[in-house]
Amino acid sequence: MKVLLIGSGGREHALAWKIAQSPLLSKLYAAPGNPGIAEHAELVLVNVENHDAVIRFCKENLIDFVVVGPEAPLVAGLADTLRAEGIAVFGPSAAAAQLEGSKGFTKDICAKFNIPTGAYQRFNNAPKAKAYVREQGAPIVIKADGLAAGKGVTVAMTVEEALAAIDDCFEGAFGAAGAEVVVEAFLDGEEASFFCLSDGKTLLPLATAQDHKRVGDGDTGPNTGGMGAYSPAPVMTPEMVERTMKEIIEPTMRGMAESGMPFSGVFFAGLMITAKGPELIEYNVRFGDPECQVLMMRLKSDLLPILYASATGTLDQVSAEWSDDPALTVVLASKGYPGSYAKNTQITSIPDASKGAKVFHAGTAVQDGKLVATGGRVLNATATGKTVAEAQAAAYALVDAVSWDNGFSRRDIGWQAIAREKA
Ligand code: AMP
Ligand code: GLY
Repeated sequence: MKVLLIGSGGREHALAWKIAQSPLLSKLYAAPGNPGIAEHAELVLVNVENHDAVIRFCKENLIDFVVVGPEAPLVAGLADTLRAEGIAVFGPSAAAAQLEGSKGFTKDICAKFNIPTGAYQRFNNAPKAKAYVREQGAPIVIKADGLAAGKGVTVAMTVEEALAAIDDCFEGAFGAAGAEVVVEAFLDGEEASFFCLSDGKTLLPLATAQDHKRVGDGDTGPNTGGMGAYSPAPVMTPEMVERTMKEIIEPTMRGMAESGMPFSGVFFAGLMITAKGPELIEYNVRFGDPECQVLMMRLKSDLLPILYASATGTLDQVSAEWSDDPALTVVLASKGYPGSYAKNTQITSIPDASKGAKVFHAGTAVQDGKLVATGGRVLNATATGKTVAEAQAAAYALVDAVSWDNGFSRRDIGWQAIAREKA
């Protein structure tokens, strides 16, 4: 099978690494890829925003299957264009990708199909949103409706903070994404991520993970795209997984199909495990980054036929086997992230991969023969162990073996799970 992988982050490096191990693979291309992905794939310069260019590349190179990593091309309808040309693609249609592209859309699906989530209202102007906040009181959550690169959410502990967040949204802090605002009840509990494949009519549960969104140790400081993650999430007991499937994922799949938008691809459900049970915080319609890195480390089965089954409506014919050993990943970021940071700083060495330990590339490039950091989140030191504590020690051994003066990482990824192991 000839495969084109779209994307350039740590998530795509992990997908490329895993797909490259498939006996079904004859050739892997990546657009645009990164220097880590280049170990497993031929990098090609195809402008992913130009759907005609992607189709042309697929036809000229006899591509059998396209795997889309990030959400933006899905929301922009790349999967629809490919399907219309008869090319199999992993990832939902633009209509189904609204589950990530519009928070208001997802809330309406939840309301219609009785899926547990925080009570909410949608607003297209500040005065009405503010009146609702004053009526509800704090804590309360303000969300820009559209894609805002993980930055459009304010968990306001006071009414004043909520009112300011509403002004920010409507004054354009998140561009078009903030033209509509969702005001949502604060959910109290422990967060977890749940990943489940769908082909529109059948589900294949994958695995659970927990991430660390804050930049600083002890979960302090501003939010980021994620500073580290581990899998499985201890709070997702078999009972919680079963409830999540029955109460959240199954009704979403059915509801989307009934609404004429069957969902194929991966449901990445952000959950709050409250006293009442699992409640949906949000959906993403692609793998998490860096959650994907720990999932791929734990997946024992061949990934390629599983993704292909999701794309072609044959998910009932495949299964996925997982290692019981936890995996943990630590993000190395450029100093200053998530604020401004220096670009093109040199990385002089990265430790080699060994069994159960690998550094994935997220924001790197080769310039004048040197490896440099080009992004905020740059490398993902990923390892497995018999316990989360062991996986953490192995991941930090990798972090410490990276030579990069401008890099930093949190030193406590996995702390809640390790505290549980010690208790
Ligand atoms: P999101 O971008 O929707 O994942 O939101 C970012 C973060 O905000 C989540 O990971 C939660 O920590 C927090 N959050 C979002 N919605 C709620 C809510 N209704 N109650 C409490 N925390 C929330
Ligand atoms: N790590 C969170 C995300 O991928 O959205």
